Amino acid sequence: MPTTQSSESVEELKIDATSALRSADSRDQLEAWRVEYLGRKGRLTSVLRGLGSLDIEQRKVVGASANRLRAELESLFDERLQQAKSARVPAGSIDVTLPGRKPALGGLHPSTQMIREITQAFNEMGFQTIEGPEIELERYNFDMLNIPADHPARDQFDTIWVDQDSRDDILLRTHTSPMQARVMEKTDPPVRVVVPGKCYRYEATDATHEWQFNQVEGLAVDEGITFADLKGTLYEFARRIFGPSRKVRFRCDYFPFVEPGVDMSIDWNGRWIEIMGAGMVHPKVLENAGYDSDKYTGFAFGMGPERISMLRNDITDIRHFFANDLRFLTQF
Ligand code: PHE
Repeated sequence: MPTTQSSESVEELKIDATSALRSADSRDQLEAWRVEYLGRKGRLTSVLRGLGSLDIEQRKVVGASANRLRAELESLFDERLQQAKSARVPAGSIDVTLPGRKPALGGLHPSTQMIREITQAFNEMGFQTIEGPEIELERYNFDMLNIPADHPARDQFDTIWVDQDSRDDILLRTHTSPMQARVMEKTDPPVRVVVPGKCYRYEATDATHEWQFNQVEGLAVDEGITFADLKGTLYEFARRIFGPSRKVRFRCDYFPFVEPGVDMSIDWNGRWIEIMGAGMVHPKVLENAGYDSDKYTGFAFGMGPERISMLRNDITDIRHFFANDLRFLTQF
């Protein structure tokens, strides 16, 4: 049977209506769709109204399919309306045409980056990187390093002690130097190590002091090591970190575990800025660890990577490193 004009319209109407319904996703759009297709003056209603002009046979066929379509569209409409109501993201609030944004990727902390650069410079000169405990015994933090209980140098370190019922000799290490003693106790010479890690001091904070900070310790012990080796190694380090023409100065300084002791400064825009303490390992420290101080000599050094990073990156306050502020951290 050839299809009639009107029943073709029902088919077309169905195609139009269902595709328009699929693309209507806000409640406003759905209401507009309902008015256009199912409303009193809507397109389906006018098809039904036009049935009167058809002959009886066609009227039956077209009438039946138009009514089926109405039922179908009503139930599709209800379904879409439910979806629109329950959608968690308000319909229309996602702009799919917005250009993509970079996902926020994590990165290495600026202290970690600096530590890696420093340890790598020494690794390339034959030093091995090792780590040690942040919770330390008084024995390693002080005694083994030639700082006995009554020694005034203990006052330089504002120590954070760990409360323990059973013992009173546990602390948060005030420097990484205890690893000098730990390494020598466990290893026969020659020794060449760098030791990065966190240290803690009971200290009021300001732009250049934190109660937590990192240090990188260094230790080289062997037969025949001299002060010239210390200077050569640390000069080379300064060149690698601060550039080939960097001026360096050594001055006498006092640390109980070295003799002689020095501090090393670099020339920074015409000013001398101290970047580390260093010296020849004190014979007592060698002996305490079981080394023969007639046979072996060595040098040690200790520096603060945050301090070096502050110089290199024009950072004016050390507290930025531990404030967890992304505006700071993402600049690295
Ligand atoms: N441990 C010293 C400090 O924290 C630094 C240092 C290390 C000095 C090794 C000499 C040798 O100040």
